[in-house]
Amino acid sequence: MTSKKQTSRMPRPHGYSASVAALALCACTGQQSTLAPRGPNAQVIADISWVMFWGAGFILVLVMSLALYAFFRKSGTSGFLSSNKLIIAGGIVFPVVSLTALLVYGVFSMGTLRAQPSDAAVRIDVVGNRWWWDIRYLDKTGKPLAVTANEIRIPAGQDVAVTVRTNDVIHSFWVPNLAGKIDLIPGRTNHILIKADRPGIFRGQCAEFCGAQHARMAFHVIAETPQQYDAWLRGQMAPARIADDIELARGLDAFRQQDCAACHTVRGISEARGQGRGPDLTHFASRKFIGAGTLENNRSNLMQFIAHSQRIKPANGMPDYAHLEEPTLHSLAVFLESLR
Ligand code: CUA
Repeated sequence: MTSKKQTSRMPRPHGYSASVAALALCACTGQQSTLAPRGPNAQVIADISWVMFWGAGFILVLVMSLALYAFFRKSGTSGFLSSNKLIIAGGIVFPVVSLTALLVYGVFSMGTLRAQPSDAAVRIDVVGNRWWWDIRYLDKTGKPLAVTANEIRIPAGQDVAVTVRTNDVIHSFWVPNLAGKIDLIPGRTNHILIKADRPGIFRGQCAEFCGAQHARMAFHVIAETPQQYDAWLRGQMAPARIADDIELARGLDAFRQQDCAACHTVRGISEARGQGRGPDLTHFASRKFIGAGTLENNRSNLMQFIAHSQRIKPANGMPDYAHLEEPTLHSLAVFLESLR
């Protein structure tokens, strides 16, 4: 079989075209943009960026104007450009003064970035894996309250202390609307503060090349009102509730037979203890995306991802289940959708 034939038979999950459209809209909506700050530290970074941009822009215009003047001036006239005073003022004094001013401003502004307070309202431990994010909510003593993946919920207006680590290579945690970048470095634990001024959904992205699917190592931060957040966290802390339903029973059977539990944890199903090999699925249906921001979480995408995850996200840790019959895939999807 030629590769061309394989390509023509590739499934086209919904969401690819939506992703392309979303990408085109990014610049307009401020989604995943440093220039659309929605939190205090992101605001400081955006301010520095603009001052540097206008400062550098002003100097560029000035230098280019002088260059054009030199280029088009009448030949034979020496003009003011050759005066020693201008060379000293424009070549030494001006660069020293302007660059020093920008440097002092930059260093001072960076000093106003807030570090993690010890009394942060929410504490989250993020572990990078190729290519997904393991996310643990911790209590004050550092014990895990709830585990999820690729989606972080936070209460708007409150400090969220994020600790980042990695299980494999270097990744980088970046939610441009809320904060700067922080690297996940093997053997080290790094810290960053995120805070959203208002409720909203903010896309984050791994910002350090980490292999073939680096681009599909995204995540979302969903900022909600504190009441919504508390209700969500209570839900996430509870084990999965599996309703008494014939389709769900079929799905759960398939989940067991296909050994999904070898990698995926579902709290409430005793044998499903993935030990962090794959994303925790206890409340999978409460998430908006599949495959770390790759596809929208809906039934058809879910069935496609289970059957053809190696075509959709090549080299990810989950094998294809293309051999499964349609009804089995359907039951599996219905079962996963019940994990709210
Ligand atoms: Cu993880 Cu790039």
